[in-house]
Amino acid sequence: MSRAVWRGTAGALLGLFLFGVGLLITALLIRTYTLPKPRVIWQGEGAQEAKLGDRAIKQLKQALIGAVRIPTVSFSEEEQNFTALAEFKDYIKKVFPRVFSSSFIQHEVVAQYSHLFTVRGLDQSLMPYIILAHLDVVPAPDEGWKFPPFSGEEHSGYIYGRGALDDKSCVIGLLQALEFLLERGYQPQRSFYIGLGHDEEVSGHKGAMKIVEKLQSLGVKLLFAVDEGLAVVDGVIQGVKRPVALLENHPMPNMFGEGPEASMFEQLSREFSFPLNVMMANLWLFSPIISRVLQTTPSSNAIVRTTTAITIFNSGLKSNVIPHMARATVNFRLHPAQTVDEVLDIIRNTINDERVELSVLNSFDPLPISPHDESSFGYQILQRTIHSVFSGVPVVPGICIGNTDSRHFVNLTHSIYRFSPFQLRPEDLGRIHGLNERISVESLKKVVQFYYQLIQNADSNKVPTADQDNHEL
Ligand SMILES: *[C@@H]1O[C@H](CO)[C@@H](O)[C@H](O)[C@H]1NC(C)=O
Ligand SMILES: *[C@@H]1O[C@H](CO)[C@@H](O)[C@H](O)[C@H]1NC(C)=O
Ligand SMILES: [Zn+2]
Repeated sequence: MSRAVWRGTAGALLGLFLFGVGLLITALLIRTYTLPKPRVIWQGEGAQEAKLGDRAIKQLKQALIGAVRIPTVSFSEEEQNFTALAEFKDYIKKVFPRVFSSSFIQHEVVAQYSHLFTVRGLDQSLMPYIILAHLDVVPAPDEGWKFPPFSGEEHSGYIYGRGALDDKSCVIGLLQALEFLLERGYQPQRSFYIGLGHDEEVSGHKGAMKIVEKLQSLGVKLLFAVDEGLAVVDGVIQGVKRPVALLENHPMPNMFGEGPEASMFEQLSREFSFPLNVMMANLWLFSPIISRVLQTTPSSNAIVRTTTAITIFNSGLKSNVIPHMARATVNFRLHPAQTVDEVLDIIRNTINDERVELSVLNSFDPLPISPHDESSFGYQILQRTIHSVFSGVPVVPGICIGNTDSRHFVNLTHSIYRFSPFQLRPEDLGRIHGLNERISVESLKKVVQFYYQLIQNADSNKVPTADQDNHEL
């Protein structure tokens, strides 16, 4: 081959290669900038807003502070502060008199400390839904807190204390929203339930499970359920420019790159700057890189795999005696693509030592993913409410780490959505179950606003269809 011919061939190959690269880049960019925007189904007039004047805000703050002061601690499944749980019942009766005296609200105590409210709507042909929250909190040793954890101290626009976020702000925000609606003379069209469990932090076997049994015995089927979960996160996801509402489709998605987290990243892609937006919009190419990055922080690691934490370790009785036995309790958070049996197999093979005995204390397999398309009533109602309360933040399906009371509701509805209506910054996330848990008064107002509008929005009788006056904005 002459030099000239060789040069010609190499040139052609290089040209072809560059052409291929060009095509690929074009494809990536086209997908990035033409990914359909999640459609906003409902346009125009939404629910009436709660008018939170000075008196209402004071009332609301006092209601939360009083709730935080009652130490409804769950130490273990057997050991809870039952005195405090009983006190809590009297407390909400006193603080929300309209809720407890309304002619269309039935209140009952379930399993001694949990609560079920039935709010009867005007149109009995509409299928009811349920809103869940829980009364109990995890323990909080005094050390390390800026203010004692059960003092409910208000400082620089924040209310501090165990339960300020998880989950008393939801309990109080929800009941307060209903109280305000009743004050306005409102009665819903659609019936709904409010379930307040008393042992969520230690399984929900007594509270939520009994509420489920109660509803099942009445033959109730639910249109959807809303429970605590992910929130509006601001600066929590690196690279996202503005706050975003993450909504969990109960309970967890498939392996990374499939299931709802794929649409989470795709729908979020427009919130990232270049070149992250190109990567998010093209998971078909970039998911190996992204999943590798997600593994590097504990909170996002659980999106990728089952996580492992040794929570109790016991061995030895005296300092001068070698123990003959050691016992460890390990908490696994299962990736949705794995079952309990599969995880056990992996552990058995990893330990590979027959002296080690394995037993399962408590377990459940991941549950199916809730619908989140344009015709899913619950999802659309939530999206509409979140848009209105959090000034149009994008709503995307997400992955919530950890399980809550709503997992007991799978036989009553396929649509379980887990969303906590607060706006969180990264520094607040670690305070949940940690030190100096707090909620800003601004956030607390949004919690009330969220439930206030959610209840009204749920009065619609169906999701509008595509051709009804809702043009793409
Ligand atoms: C349980 O709650 C009561 C208030 O209802 C409180 O006085 C008591 O100290 C609490 N006990 C524990 C062990 O936290
Ligand atoms: C749902 O119903 C099935 C079949 O009756 C039962 O085995 C399962 O335990 C129920 N799940 C829950 C969470 O109640
Ligand atoms: Zn909680």
